[in-house]
Amino acid sequence: MNKTDAEKRIAELRSEIERHNYLYYVMDAPAINDFEYDRLMRELQDVEKEYPELMTPDSPTQRVGDKPLEKFENYTHPYRMYSLNNALNGEEFDDFYRRVVKEIYGGGLFSPAFSCEHKFDGLAVELIYERGVLICASTRGNGEVGELITANARTIKSIPLRLNQGCPEWLAVYGEVLMYKADFVELNRNRLEQDEPEFANPRNAAAGSLRQLDPKITASRKLRFHAYGARTKEGEKTMNSITSQFAKMTYLRDLGFPVSPHRIKAQSIGDITEFHRKWENDRSKLKYEIDGIVVKLDDINAQDELGYDAKSPKWAVAWKFKPAVETTILRDVEYSVGRMGTITPTAIFDPVILSGARISRATLHNFNEVIRLDVKIGDSIIVERSGDVIPKVVGVIKEKRPTDAGEIVPPEKCPVCGQRAEQVVGEVAYMCTNPECPAVVRERVKHFVSRQAFDIEGLGEEIAARFIELGFLRDASDIFLLKNHESELKELERFGEKSVNNLLKAIEKASKIEYWRFINAIGIRYVGEQTARILADTFQPFAAFMEAPEEILMSAREVGETVARSIRAFFDNPGSRSMLKRLFANGVEIIYPEKIGAADSPIAGMTVVFTGKADGFTREEFKEIVRKHGGTPSESVSGNTSILVAGENAGSKLDKAKKFGVKIVSPKDFLELLKLSE
Ligand code: IVH
Repeated sequence: MNKTDAEKRIAELRSEIERHNYLYYVMDAPAINDFEYDRLMRELQDVEKEYPELMTPDSPTQRVGDKPLEKFENYTHPYRMYSLNNALNGEEFDDFYRRVVKEIYGGGLFSPAFSCEHKFDGLAVELIYERGVLICASTRGNGEVGELITANARTIKSIPLRLNQGCPEWLAVYGEVLMYKADFVELNRNRLEQDEPEFANPRNAAAGSLRQLDPKITASRKLRFHAYGARTKEGEKTMNSITSQFAKMTYLRDLGFPVSPHRIKAQSIGDITEFHRKWENDRSKLKYEIDGIVVKLDDINAQDELGYDAKSPKWAVAWKFKPAVETTILRDVEYSVGRMGTITPTAIFDPVILSGARISRATLHNFNEVIRLDVKIGDSIIVERSGDVIPKVVGVIKEKRPTDAGEIVPPEKCPVCGQRAEQVVGEVAYMCTNPECPAVVRERVKHFVSRQAFDIEGLGEEIAARFIELGFLRDASDIFLLKNHESELKELERFGEKSVNNLLKAIEKASKIEYWRFINAIGIRYVGEQTARILADTFQPFAAFMEAPEEILMSAREVGETVARSIRAFFDNPGSRSMLKRLFANGVEIIYPEKIGAADSPIAGMTVVFTGKADGFTREEFKEIVRKHGGTPSESVSGNTSILVAGENAGSKLDKAKKFGVKIVSPKDFLELLKLSE
């Protein structure tokens, strides 16, 4: 493609991708699926790679995240970023309402319009656009000075990098960065698998993800933006002469910003009260968290007349919901068994309504939590819907303990198969010791066939449970032997010829499996989807991964001691080895990703260590480069090290490399070796 064509195609692709972002994030009406979207993105990446000089910061390909920062720069907001006064109950809201009506209209029977919106529970962000292009993003800080987070904001797909037509010359947009509840649950699930601390609620997760010095981490976190305000330098006349708060939100939506679809222009205090009541009850149905409603005087001229106090507008108030905390009575503790055999206690209590949902059970995570809370059956307990999502027992009211409160004892037996339960040395969890426990097998099969693993449709939970009961499945590898039971399967009640044929076909198809899915499927503790992807990129072929010592495993990104030890324990366990053997014997075949240029790479198969400082790349980038070229990056020098790349201020690793006779090169030579230098 010549440069003129490339320029044209880049413009087409960018506007097409932006249109789909708008349809998806703002209008909530996607027109294409993920696959087609990715294809457009990939084409754009390819053309931009061919003509790097045509790359601009507002290209959608730039959302993957820039280089890590040393620290955040301070940023003085062009105008103060205001906060909101709270009304904690109906009386306090009435006070606000009456004051506004009195100040503006002298009281009496006036019933001015108010714009009612959701109060998003995330963190406030300011975005500045010049000539329609995002030029900077910042957090609120103390209202006058915040932190510059432009690179991170660029990774958030619902923040437009370029505005739709008709935008003002200069525009400051205010809104909230937040994480959807489902994305929060997913993130915590991954963190738990990787033994990382969970976030307490979606707001903390959003804050922690936005304030990352490495924008690539922010990019991986699925953050969202919702706008709730804007201003120009000259005032509203440059915003289509808008005089209504409600109309301003619609205007922002048309420029390309997601705004809440659930907002009303209320004409009476009754409408406002009804809006508050509705969302206090229905908040759990929303994709995102809200902790109240925001009520704003709709007439913008009247807003200006009322003005601001030190920190907040006088024309708006945040009418908060009752916090989602209740006390109730603990009636029982139930135990369930997970895929790894871990026995998890669940608290069963008298039902309470928390943010609109009826709740009567909450996980206690592990037995240590029972000890930490010092909780007994019959206790009055405090239950919170942590971040509106997952109910949690947060405390016990000891003064109210009845004299006959029942001790909660650790499980001696597996609640499902009845075999001995044991606390693993050095761990808090109690485990079922029976590798063939039906609950464990059922959970393993469920994981094994799930979408991010073997992805076998038609082997749902109920059917799997039946097969286990009938003895067709003793472990997950038996799935590939089901074809030997074809005629027996066809005899089964409610399981006709056609469904058996379809199932066997799906199993056959699934037996050729992408490498990372395979690693995820086999069920190594602490190895979830994300870690499986990293491991698959880092260690090839599977046989090498199976034999890698802990130290080498830890050279992979995001793999720490716990994960490395768990991988080793898995492969050193004869049970896992025989399961793997059976999988391959039963026809499973791993499909490996193609490595870029790995075949003729000068470092293919080599272990490469980096020490000191280099101009050309960061530590993380170094690892990526090595992996891409078919080598294995490692943190420490040993007899197995092939090359040490020694930058400035190289220390003890250099001495060690000399001792072992390892080849030592400078960062510059290293890049030259891989033909990466300019
Ligand atoms: S308006 C000048 N509207 O709540 C007006 N704020 O507790 C300033 N918030 O700092 C804010 N949803 O981060 C406004 N619909 C909404 C909001 C909202 C959430 C946040 C915002 C603000 C904080 C105050």
